[in-house]
Amino acid sequence: MMSIQNVLKYPHPLLTRISVPVKVFDLKLLELVNDMFETMYTEDGVGLAAPQIGISKQIMVISPNAKSGQERAFINLEITHRSKDEEVGIEGCLSVPGFTAEISRPVAIQFEAQDVKGNTINEEVRGFAARVIQHELDHLNGILLIDHARFFHKGKTLKASHHRL
Ligand code: NI
Repeated sequence: MMSIQNVLKYPHPLLTRISVPVKVFDLKLLELVNDMFETMYTEDGVGLAAPQIGISKQIMVISPNAKSGQERAFINLEITHRSKDEEVGIEGCLSVPGFTAEISRPVAIQFEAQDVKGNTINEEVRGFAARVIQHELDHLNGILLIDHARFFHKGKTLKASHHRL
């Protein structure tokens, strides 16, 4: 049974906690990931990290194209390589509503993670997908976009849903 979870908002203390690795890949994890997918789409987000729903575990879900059916879940993700090339992009965050920030990040990353069944994943991604993963990884390290943004824009609403991570 899937359920939509409440997304914690800044300055909730759980958003600054460091997440711990997942060790057990069971039905509960699968249900949690499904809740995260559902919550992400309901909130018009393209990414969600477990701490945003109050769970300090290394779990993230992404859907860079915001298309149902293309969502991915990454458990215990570690970046193994970052490109030297960086790009500035505008990011928003479901936990910091009403704000966007310009953040410079590596354009491409290689990472290792596990899927919801515990299988190892090794991938290289670039562009917006790489940005989303890096944003969600920040959440797992207790970092919010307001912690390393150089510029802030207070907007009425975030028009483009793909800016909300
Ligand atoms: Ni976020």
